[in-house]
Amino acid sequence: MARPILRTALCDLLGIEYPVISAGMGPVGGGAAPAAVAELAAAVSNAGGLGVIGGAGFSPDALRAEINKVRAMTNKPFGVDLLLPSNFMGGAASGELPRDPRDLVPKETRDGLKKIAESLGIEWLEAPNTPNPLANRRAGAGMSDDQMEVVIEEKIPVFAAGLGNPGPFVERLKANGTKVLSLVGNTKNAKRVAASGVDVVVAQGTEAGGHTGRIATFVLVPQVVDAVAPTPVVAAGGIGDGRGLAAALALGAIGVWCGTAFLVSNEANQPDIQKERILAAMDEDTRITKLYSGKTMRNITNPLIEAWDAAGIAALPMGLQGVLVADLLYSVRKAGKTEYLMNAAGQVAGLLKSSRPAADILHDMVAQAADILARKLPATVQAVPA
Ligand SMILES: Cc1cc2nc3c(=O)[nH]c(=O)nc-3n(C[C@H](O)[C@H](O)[C@H](O)COP(=O)(O)O)c2cc1C
Repeated sequence: MARPILRTALCDLLGIEYPVISAGMGPVGGGAAPAAVAELAAAVSNAGGLGVIGGAGFSPDALRAEINKVRAMTNKPFGVDLLLPSNFMGGAASGELPRDPRDLVPKETRDGLKKIAESLGIEWLEAPNTPNPLANRRAGAGMSDDQMEVVIEEKIPVFAAGLGNPGPFVERLKANGTKVLSLVGNTKNAKRVAASGVDVVVAQGTEAGGHTGRIATFVLVPQVVDAVAPTPVVAAGGIGDGRGLAAALALGAIGVWCGTAFLVSNEANQPDIQKERILAAMDEDTRITKLYSGKTMRNITNPLIEAWDAAGIAALPMGLQGVLVADLLYSVRKAGKTEYLMNAAGQVAGLLKSSRPAADILHDMVAQAADILARKLPATVQAVPA
């Protein structure tokens, strides 16, 4: 069957056929490798969209290897996403390095977590070799400037900043011909990143899986479009089929950035059990929590998330929260309660029914949107009495 034509300014800007981007998704539950690996990025790019590697969990060397891998799998444009959080470790990054990273965490916070584990019948165990994010960061791994250096050296086609402002890197990226995208969850940050000269602002609504804000996509996108014009806007959060794509274009976006929809694809690096939970989920089954990362993150909910939220313990800054929960998540794994691990996913999970090749997800989305935009909407307009 002939492929439909659905072109927007995003296609010209990024050199792609369809205005659909698969989100850069970092590590999912249980400290696994990032979800959006080269296989997914290449599959989406080869199918005419833009595939983006979720680079956050890769060390600089592993990130370079993943970029080379995607280059070997496609000659189409692709992207890399990194997190550039402004308050990583809450400023602890400048202090002395304790021998045991646990010393970075307040005792009462840790005791609170132990109580939660006890209430869920999980025996508290200390994880061997708890990663020290402070030491790792200084060694150049995980949310560090060294990852950005790889992105710049590799002259990749597209860079996306998932958190924070890529402003300090924009000039060097653009000098390489790299297009720069930046994710935001409100108009204030949209204006900030647009002023830094990014090529595209990605307005991500609260419906989104993973780290997310408070404003819903339907109201966020048009406000960001108005706030940052003439910088173009891509819509994210809750888009899982052609209806979402068509709606995003109607709201003034020039394309979509979809995470959860591609997280259940065959090529996503996500354990089957977690894909199944997303596919089984209904619209009410996700919840935003700071439990896993210290920042608001939407997950398939579970009793651990609910117990943490009910306890009212203040989360620690990103990085430190990872140290705090390392023993808990180790204990959870040892207890075989994998359903308590992080399973980031958006509200659109309720719309997703099967795991399929990423190319099929993309092509069905485009075909449905093209049908709505070319035939259904004009027909509806004609049906309205004068
Ligand atoms: C498992 C998972 C991991 C994610 N990791 C990242 C990440 O590392 N960087 C990032 O910019 N966004 C990340 N996100 C958010 C996505 O980029 C995207 O904005 C979001 O999934 C869009 O909403 P949707 O899930 O409703 O499509 C993640 C989302 C999920 C579901």
